[in-house]
Amino acid sequence: MSLHIGAKPGEIAETVLIAGDPLRAKNVAEKMLENPLCYSQIRGMLGFTGTYNGKRVSIQGTGMGLPSTAIYLHELISDYGVKKVVRIGTCGSIQEYLDIGDVILATSASTDSNINRLIFKGMDYAPTPDFETLMRAHEAAKMMGIKVTPGPVFSADSFYNADPDHWKLWSEYGILGMEMETSLLYTVAAKFKVKALTILSVSDSLITHSSASAEEREKKFMNMAKIALSLVD
Ligand code: HPA
Repeated sequence: MSLHIGAKPGEIAETVLIAGDPLRAKNVAEKMLENPLCYSQIRGMLGFTGTYNGKRVSIQGTGMGLPSTAIYLHELISDYGVKKVVRIGTCGSIQEYLDIGDVILATSASTDSNINRLIFKGMDYAPTPDFETLMRAHEAAKMMGIKVTPGPVFSADSFYNADPDHWKLWSEYGILGMEMETSLLYTVAAKFKVKALTILSVSDSLITHSSASAEEREKKFMNMAKIALSLVD
């Protein structure tokens, strides 16, 4: 039993969807999985295992930000033998052509976090997803008629940045959106030879300061979950 998840051996599937918000994890598990069983409630960071089209899958809340995500990922992989992790989350758009609700497949993750600088002794590592999982998600979205935009994202250490223009440099270099977890997910996955992909829906715009209604967020979140669940082996 691990410290923060505490599930019994065998209670977590080899493919896990992760969501920052544990209530989203619960919602997806209850709406999309057959026979979802809650294996953890420690710190309210809910985790569920059930089946989707007959295949076993888990959905785990991680909290927000790189350090919190790192704790859950580490335990999922080292203590429970997880082999594939698909993050379903939200981001703030920094490109004018992206609308609220658009779905992004994260092809790389830049960051202002120091975690990777420490690991890589001051040098830069380029965190990227598993190519096959990325291609499968792209194909699945096409089949389901869900428009997706593949492209680079930025994993920020702060949500509330003192500089209101902090995103502009990244926008100039083609980054699609700001979120807070993917650079860590892709790095940890690479180290432990695990497959990883982040799917994001645009919840707000740093350009226009508009944001999605709760209803819109919910609907788009389920679209992402459908793509993610199609990746279960
Ligand atoms: N910044 C960081 N993370 C986010 C944002 C944002 O603007 N919107 C949704 N997640």
